[in-house]
Amino acid sequence: MADSVQISSNGKTYSYPVVTGTENERGIDISRLRSDTGMITLDPGYGNTGSCKSAITYIDGDKGILRYRGIPIEEFEREPDFIEVAWMLIFGRLPNSTERERFGNRLTANAHLHESMKHTFEGFPTNAPPMAITSAMINTLGCFHSEFYSLTDEMQLEEVAARLISKIRTIAAFTYRRVNGLPYIYPDDKLRYCANMLHMMFSKPYEQYIADTEIEDALNLIFILHADHEQNCSTSTVRMVGSSKANLFASISAGVCALWGPLHGGANAEVLGMLEKIHDGGLTAEKYIELAKQKDSNVRLMGFGHRVYKHYDPRAKMLQKTCETVLKKLNRQDPLLDIARKLEELALADDYFVSRKLYPNVDFYSGIILRAIGIPINMFTVMFVIGRLPGWIAHWKEQHDDPTAKIARPRQIYTGPVNRHYVPINQR
Ligand code: ACO
Repeated sequence: MADSVQISSNGKTYSYPVVTGTENERGIDISRLRSDTGMITLDPGYGNTGSCKSAITYIDGDKGILRYRGIPIEEFEREPDFIEVAWMLIFGRLPNSTERERFGNRLTANAHLHESMKHTFEGFPTNAPPMAITSAMINTLGCFHSEFYSLTDEMQLEEVAARLISKIRTIAAFTYRRVNGLPYIYPDDKLRYCANMLHMMFSKPYEQYIADTEIEDALNLIFILHADHEQNCSTSTVRMVGSSKANLFASISAGVCALWGPLHGGANAEVLGMLEKIHDGGLTAEKYIELAKQKDSNVRLMGFGHRVYKHYDPRAKMLQKTCETVLKKLNRQDPLLDIARKLEELALADDYFVSRKLYPNVDFYSGIILRAIGIPINMFTVMFVIGRLPGWIAHWKEQHDDPTAKIARPRQIYTGPVNRHYVPINQR
């Protein structure tokens, strides 16, 4: 196969090397294109643009494959916990027992927030969007840890990663308690990661919430399945901000804002909204599918379709099983699950969705699980933040450690007015 690609312009031919990844995906290295030809590429939405080389996550969207550091996502269903997966994503290999223990101890030691941060929470109105609070509080956290603005070795990175991954739970739980007018519950050192998170959200000052193992496992799996997804919108944002050498807190805080959007992290809340709308009787599943197919309806089948997966999202398959387990454990019949199943059945048999390769994505079932656990819809995307945090840190580190990395600065094709003159206001 050709290891270079020729481009002809104005009678001249230029040759550009083809870069091949370890899974044989190929890209044309056009870094000399502009200096050679005076032209740039135009790729709105970046569907054909590789912004970096990365060794963290591999996705084959046509085959429905997702691997973290080479390990298929399905292998994370039973054994490892979110913390082990987080360390592996960040440092590139599975931790040995000393590393796992050290990282766990760092997390435990750092679960608390500085007491002054409670005053910052108090400053938010109780109707503030949780994602706005989360983003703001991550930047605020950075103000308390400015010694980590510049990182010089891996141990420092491990320490700041542990602080972020541990404290994000506390920030999420305090956000929930703030918007619901509830007293803050401090972390409990004896609890595992997910159980501690649920304790801080749902315990009462006089009665501790004890999570069922199935619920703890479901949350653990949700976090693992969201931990990384290569160059998605929020991760690209973290890398974009980090490329200016902005610190980890600032870069992650920006990633949270990107994740907030309904086409990205906000989708599982949109899925529930859609299911509730159908359940409340305004629409049937059949009618909703028809609307989603009409271009002028502005309606999409939420939780379906993906920029990368043109096959069943492997994470959706795993969550479908977990969804059944959680509802069984809680002895709950959720009519929304029946509607979700009906929508899935109708869409997978409909040529509109089949021909466009629109399959359920990770958000299709995660919302039903989160709802069953008792997490309110406005906190769904905050749960996604907790899951995605290790991936953001891993990408920030990969870029930080890359001596060839440059500040991200795309170009544009200008389509505004050509040169014209300023007209004083009294002459307009
Ligand atoms: N319902 C109905 N039609 C859809 C849907 C959908 N959910 N998704 C895509 N389409 C249609 C488009 O209208 C378009 O049709 P056309 O070719 O006739 O114009 C075609 O499928 C391709 O759609 P694009 O928007 O070009 O696909 P893209 O890859 O840019 O978008 C996206 C992917 C944003 C996820 C889209 O599928 C979508 O909006 N899905 C619903 C929202 C959602 O579930 N988001 C979660 C994504 S996963 C995550 O962020 C964790």
